[in-house]
Amino acid sequence: MNKHHVSQISEIITIPKIVDEGYLCFAESNKHIPFPIKRFYFIYSVDEGVTRGKHAHKKTVQVLFCIKGKIKIILDNGSIREKVVLSDPKQGILLDKMMWHEMVEFDKDTVLLVIASDYYKPNDYIRDYDAFVKMVKKTRPVSRESLDYQIVGSARR
Ligand code: TYD
Repeated sequence: MNKHHVSQISEIITIPKIVDEGYLCFAESNKHIPFPIKRFYFIYSVDEGVTRGKHAHKKTVQVLFCIKGKIKIILDNGSIREKVVLSDPKQGILLDKMMWHEMVEFDKDTVLLVIASDYYKPNDYIRDYDAFVKMVKKTRPVSRESLDYQIVGSARR
């Protein structure tokens, strides 16, 4: 995959990496992470072959960092579906609201760190794919140009 076009429908967020005796990466609210951070969680010890996620969020925006190992993320905005590989700890993928996502192909000992714009709210989840597609068609114009505009606009908020 072309490094500069890793994702058509989202964007890679690269955070600073300090190199001395080892590596240190960091990120700040509203600076490297394009929203005020309200929550983080991490996922690890996932067995081979497991798929996690399989939902979209109505309002919550997240950034996913694979801080150890390697993982593939399926992103789907209701029109375009793509698979993004995460393996560099300083490169996160922005998971905008109304973006269906699935985490697949966890390498052994992978740790996925997720930074979120809101507290955990079960009502914010859309777990049914068909319902997601119906909702996204209502809230987003379907033309490719309009989609690009909306994604870029919301990502730089
Ligand atoms: P879920 O978001 O469905 O995980 P994944 O998308 O990785 O499969 O969450 C799994 C469980 O953890 C579910 O019971 C809700 C709970 N949970 C919280 O209580 N707080 C949180 O911040 C998150 C992300 C999940």
